[in-house]
Amino acid sequence: MSARFTDRTVLVTGAGSGLGRAIALAFAAEGAKVVTAGRTAESLDATVALIEAAGGTAAAVTADVSSAGSTRELVRRAVELFGGLDVAVNNAGVFRGGGHSAADLPLEDWRTLLDTNVTGVLHALQAEVGHMRANGGGAIVNIASNLGPHVRVPGLFGYQVSKAAVSAITRAAALDHIGDGIRINAVSPGAAESTMSLRPGETEAEREVRMKEQSPLGRISSAAEVAAAVLYLASDDAGSAVGTDLVIDGGVAA
Ligand SMILES: NC(=O)c1ccc[n+]([C@@H]2O[C@H](COP(=O)([O-])OP(=O)(O)OC[C@H]3O[C@@H](n4cnc5c(N)ncnc54)[C@H](OP(=O)(O)O)[C@@H]3O)[C@@H](O)[C@H]2O)c1
Repeated sequence: MSARFTDRTVLVTGAGSGLGRAIALAFAAEGAKVVTAGRTAESLDATVALIEAAGGTAAAVTADVSSAGSTRELVRRAVELFGGLDVAVNNAGVFRGGGHSAADLPLEDWRTLLDTNVTGVLHALQAEVGHMRANGGGAIVNIASNLGPHVRVPGLFGYQVSKAAVSAITRAAALDHIGDGIRINAVSPGAAESTMSLRPGETEAEREVRMKEQSPLGRISSAAEVAAAVLYLASDDAGSAVGTDLVIDGGVAA
């Protein structure tokens, strides 16, 4: 197996579940020392246990990316734990559906979406770039979505705006920091293998039927397929990918 991340330290936010856990496992399988982050210690510990059971190296740091101070402390701890920070994946995010139109979206939902999905990515980016530009550069991958930057559907106003902002942050920050030796890119998944892509009350079997109709590919993306795109953009293989927003959605946004 190739090991593109041997001796590199990788921070993954939102690594206690879903896509973040799959991304953390994939980096560890390719030799990275992985710092998993999120608000819930138990779920991070479970990710670390999976990595260690597979022979990898990982640690857990609880943090809330909607807090600038908590996120700065997260990056400081990540650097301290394994002696550096080479790659960061800003994956932590929340979903608020509810079928609300722009006019009807509760402001509380709007604030939660922006605080986590947008300001949370900015907090992380600022702390990560602060370390990387003083230490020879690095690679950052932000997790956006096909919803917002690439396709729009009715009733998901707040989430779509937040993810369009993640895509825009990625491209603008990529230009600002490529001179610092930091490549910043995004992955925009479509419906992927995690609880976030289940509608309220929907089973995985029902989601499978829905995706046969909604996706040109006829299925959701696996978490491993999304992780593979993240690892590519973080790796030296993608040495000239700067400000790219890679859509992995089975053709929905094609
Ligand atoms: N699954 C999909 O179909 C899909 C499609 C497109 C994009 N995405 C994006 O992919 C990313 C991962 O989503 P997922 O599907 O894996 O959903 P998930 O299982 O709900 O994962 C989200 C993770 O983010 C963490 N998190 C939430 N708020 C946080 C905060 N303030 N600070 C730190 N961590 C926080 C959560 O852990 P705690 O609650 O313990 O903090 C959780 O582990 C998200 O950005 C999502 O928008 C997902």
